[in-house]
Amino acid sequence: MCRNLSKYALIFLILALSGLIFLLRNIHTVESWNCHTFSALYQLQSRIQSSFVHINLPTFYNNRTFCAHLGQKPSPEDELEERFLLDSITWPTPPPHAAPNALRQTSDPVHSLFAILPTKEGREWHVGDQLEALIQMHDFQGRPKRYGGDFLLARLHSPELGAGVAGKVLDHRNGFYSAVFPLLWVGPAQVEITLVHPSEAVSVLRRLREERPDRVFFKSLFRLGVISETTVCNMCLPPDQQPLCNYTDLYTGEPWYCYKPKMLSCDTRINHAKGGYLKHLITNKEALLFQSGVNIKIEIHASGTDRINVLPPRKEVESSSIKEEPIKVTPSGYYYANSWRALGGVTMRQFNETSAITQCLRNKVINMYGDSTVRQWFEYFIAFLPELKEFNLHSPKNVGPFMAVDTTHNILLKYRCHGPPIRFSTVMSSELRYISNELNGLTGGPNSVVVLSIWAHFSTFPVEIYIRRLRHIRQALLRLLERAPGTLIVIRSANLQALDQEVSLYNSDWYSLQLDEVLRAMFKGMNVLLVDAWEMTVAHPLPHALHPPPVIVKNMIDLLLSYVCPEKKNTQQ
Ligand SMILES: *[C@@H]1O[C@H](CO)[C@@H](O)[C@H](O)[C@H]1NC(C)=O
Ligand SMILES: *[C@@H]1O[C@H](CO)[C@@H](O)[C@H](O)[C@H]1NC(C)=O
Ligand SMILES: *[C@@H]1O[C@H](CO)[C@@H](O)[C@H](O)[C@H]1NC(C)=O
Repeated sequence: MCRNLSKYALIFLILALSGLIFLLRNIHTVESWNCHTFSALYQLQSRIQSSFVHINLPTFYNNRTFCAHLGQKPSPEDELEERFLLDSITWPTPPPHAAPNALRQTSDPVHSLFAILPTKEGREWHVGDQLEALIQMHDFQGRPKRYGGDFLLARLHSPELGAGVAGKVLDHRNGFYSAVFPLLWVGPAQVEITLVHPSEAVSVLRRLREERPDRVFFKSLFRLGVISETTVCNMCLPPDQQPLCNYTDLYTGEPWYCYKPKMLSCDTRINHAKGGYLKHLITNKEALLFQSGVNIKIEIHASGTDRINVLPPRKEVESSSIKEEPIKVTPSGYYYANSWRALGGVTMRQFNETSAITQCLRNKVINMYGDSTVRQWFEYFIAFLPELKEFNLHSPKNVGPFMAVDTTHNILLKYRCHGPPIRFSTVMSSELRYISNELNGLTGGPNSVVVLSIWAHFSTFPVEIYIRRLRHIRQALLRLLERAPGTLIVIRSANLQALDQEVSLYNSDWYSLQLDEVLRAMFKGMNVLLVDAWEMTVAHPLPHALHPPPVIVKNMIDLLLSYVCPEKKNTQQ
């Protein structure tokens, strides 16, 4: 009965779709067709298509092995590295015997506390010292937690000075955590500890990541003549439910599949788009672990003071009598007077004037690849540099590819999104490219800058998928640096974003953190520069946003340009 119904529904939909297309084609030939009609019809068509998509969602194998191990088998060395990377991001799980069976036994930010150490009065703080805060987690009944795994963020800041730095959080796995901060400025400093997710929620996120890589799904439109069909696509689709189209990339072996359209062949694929987000992924009980205002990104209060006053650096003699501090925290930078100051070698320059940016980018080609967080940089340049003219390539808004040129100063700026699983609205199949393949087609050289940002669209997949993608990009970058030394490569890391229950389940900062750690480890020691968007958003007072606000983007661009145009050393010494 049901089967018959869906068959009829299918026939009806096909008829409706062909009718619409017929209509659209005719409208096309009418000279004075108006935009309104088109967009109304388009909306109707996409509504029909999206309901079509929902009818045909496959039942996914909820098992750990399927998605992570789909595609080419890694070489023994790659497998070893993968093992190492996965081990390095191991996150503590609640012990099975202590697994809570009610919300009241889970971590509660309101009952939890932190204290600056030592708690007794009288300690003096100097620039160059390290500050430690001890955090003790409690459950909703006020009982101390006995195991770790809570996801905490730590920030030391001073609103008066426009200063802020990310702290390092250490999990003692017994309900206690340490947050450690370097003291980098003279004056007031205030500790802020935030519970992003309780450990019990992280367990849910981890399970979803391993078992539900289908929770964001994709679709493609297939078309031939008047017939068009839309089917579901993903990195991993259960192979034995319906015939598949295999779009595995020939060069990289990156897998991608769509369900085969009923009437059309696989080579009639027209585009790729985000299909949607699955709902009802967690039980009602689990949903209690993801409540805005209760246990998602809630500040933990101090039991005593949360403020210290930092004095200028100690004198040499004094500092030798201070005993070695056990943990060294090395942030990649900090804010002071609302500007990012990078540590570790690079001297920050500020590019406030368009002329300074133009001067820096003169005779340069900047190739940007990745997600919308690097597209934001492209948009920043376009908005800021009047002489940089964007070409109208008739690319879809927010999707690209984009290109802009300043012919006076010989500047070329390009942006292209990364390949599937890109979650953009609609990318033409002909414009779908993997970053590594694009890099293989670059000449590179000292006037060439490559900027990459690839993280946000991988959070719904097992980490192995991300490792494989970065491995391909890394191989391509090594080849590029080999054939064109002097090519400047800059990677923009992941950043924090606004979270509620729904967003957490597919884009939580916990997923981003895990990917980000993999990214840093995989490019360590390579001739690749990092814009640490993670710390730049942890340390900043503005609310977290997937697309950070313009003041933060300005600091990122300043850092990028400081890499591209380092301060000239004074040669008359
Ligand atoms: C996981 O799913 C795949 C489907 O391809 C199946 O072959 C495999 O046996 C399953 N593994 C487990 C542990 O259920
Ligand atoms: C898809 O194609 C790739 C490359 O040709 C191949 O290795 C893979 O096994 C194919 N996948 C399936 C499910 O047939
Ligand atoms: C750039 O602007 C900031 C903020 O207005 C200011 O503090 C800084 O001194 C300026 N830097 C330069 C090099 O003009």
